[in-house]
Amino acid sequence: MKNLSKVLAIETSCDDTSVAVVREDGWVEALSSVSQDSSHSLFGGIVPEIAHRNHSFYLLPLLKNCMEKSSCDWKSLLGLSVTSRPGLLGSLLVGLVTVKTLALAYDLPFLAINHLEAHLFAPFLKDASYAPEKEPSFPYLALVVSGGHTFLCLVERLGIYKILGSTRDDAAGEAFDKFAQMLGLGFPGGRQVDMWAKGGNSHFFSFPRPLLSSKHLDFSFSGLKTSAYRFLSSWNEEEKKKERKHLCAGFQEAILDVLMSKLDLALKRTPVESVVITGGVSANSALRKKATLWAEKKEVDLFMPPLRYCTDNAAMVGYIGIKRLLRGEKSSQDISPSASSHSFDFISVREK
Ligand code: KG4
Ligand code: ZN
Repeated sequence: MKNLSKVLAIETSCDDTSVAVVREDGWVEALSSVSQDSSHSLFGGIVPEIAHRNHSFYLLPLLKNCMEKSSCDWKSLLGLSVTSRPGLLGSLLVGLVTVKTLALAYDLPFLAINHLEAHLFAPFLKDASYAPEKEPSFPYLALVVSGGHTFLCLVERLGIYKILGSTRDDAAGEAFDKFAQMLGLGFPGGRQVDMWAKGGNSHFFSFPRPLLSSKHLDFSFSGLKTSAYRFLSSWNEEEKKKERKHLCAGFQEAILDVLMSKLDLALKRTPVESVVITGGVSANSALRKKATLWAEKKEVDLFMPPLRYCTDNAAMVGYIGIKRLLRGEKSSQDISPSASSHSFDFISVREK
């Protein structure tokens, strides 16, 4: 087998510090990550100042650990890859400055990439415990559902991404987190809601399904959050605790109904053979079950990568980085981080 190229990648766009060494075929040689959940849970949300301080603290030890795990040396790397957009500016800056410095020190090219593009390619990653026989075939539909983003996208090929619909306000993960906070379940709360919902009846409490029957593919979750807030405002902590599992089941069902009905509509309008669901919310056990049944019925190949590749991680950043480096692309030392999604990385074909 010919020697495959590899990159070292860094992800620090939000509150996960992550470093990976990835091969051009998607094989993850090493992945070293630290979640900052415990630092932010006290505040019920991500505190940007704490996030970037933590990145500065964790990044170099993770880098060392990752290089040791992958047993590769700097000379054997094709280049470096780093998330430069979108995200928290201070957080992005820690990763970007580190990569620029490494690029100068080791005379390596680097690529500053869009974090959302990286999420789209997560199912192409592989390791000893995740190596599906098939890969998504182009073009494919991708539903990205995380704490910061919720959108439907047609991935035509590397570099051509058509946004079919996206959230007009909150992301689905944000709605899960806010609801968990109302019930005193901690932060981030998606996993907690998922866990409690397992023992509940989703018909006990009914929550609105925003934009469910609209003809476009946009989402909106802020009304759902407000409606839950109003509904619970007269409840005391004891009452909330008593009904926790049914409340979680009802709220979760409302979000999943919207996600699945928009995905279904997208597939009807854009028939494809492969569908990808990724981002932190794709870890939701009920969503995984629903989506699997749906895909069987629709006869499409469904790809939902394991949690380590769904949530923010450097391996997905490395995969896109290496594909672009192999095409001869590279970033220059004067590139800056950006908080915005950079609409020019994506083509919007959203219907109003
Ligand atoms: O992709 P991610 O790690 O970071 C962002 O880019 O935001 O996603 C984090 C989000 C959080 O909102 C978290 O509550 C949600 O994913 N999440 C879940 C589950 N696990 C994580 N939401 C629902 N069910 C889960 N099991
Ligand atoms: Zn993300």
